[in-house]
Amino acid sequence: MKKTPIAVLISGRGSNMIALMEACSQPDFPAEIVLVLSNRPDAAGLETAKQAGIPTLCIDHKNFGKDRETHERAVDEAVRASGAELICLAGYMRVLTPWLVQQWANRMLNIHPSLLPAFPGLHTHEAALKAGAKEHGCTIHLVTDGVDEGPILAQARVPVLEGDTADTLAARVLEQEHKLYPATLKHFIETL
Ligand code: GRF
Repeated sequence: MKKTPIAVLISGRGSNMIALMEACSQPDFPAEIVLVLSNRPDAAGLETAKQAGIPTLCIDHKNFGKDRETHERAVDEAVRASGAELICLAGYMRVLTPWLVQQWANRMLNIHPSLLPAFPGLHTHEAALKAGAKEHGCTIHLVTDGVDEGPILAQARVPVLEGDTADTLAARVLEQEHKLYPATLKHFIETL
């Protein structure tokens, strides 16, 4: 089968990246990871990907000062050079400029740890607990200019349980993230 080449952008531990790597290693999964790119040299996921034989690259945003677009032009160039046709953001902790969003319109997915439109931005688990939410979860969406605002492709729900802390809730959501991202990517590619 033809596998669609994808780039995965990370900033940290990369557990969603690992879930995508595992899915992509299956012969019948319609994607292959051709690049894992981080904006942070200390992202643990870079080493994990490297050990699995996946091409990795760090383009440290700190080298670009406040010039977000120039950083993103470098990211864009690297992704294009890798041959990737889709970008999966997986814990990529940067707010993107409209320029990059435009380059990859309808071809860039993000995973967000809440049931959007509830709780965009950071600290979603704390926010869900504070709001007294009975349900929480995660969302895969297309990336558009507004942060965490793009069209929703899929969501997974978990209950908020008595005595939950942000950590216990995050762990319950993360388990779902690891299933939802590969499943949604597969469906997205198959319906392209
Ligand atoms: C995940 O909760 C993801 O939803 C959010 O950032 C976290 C990244 O975790 N965007 P990991 O690096 O994939 O483990």
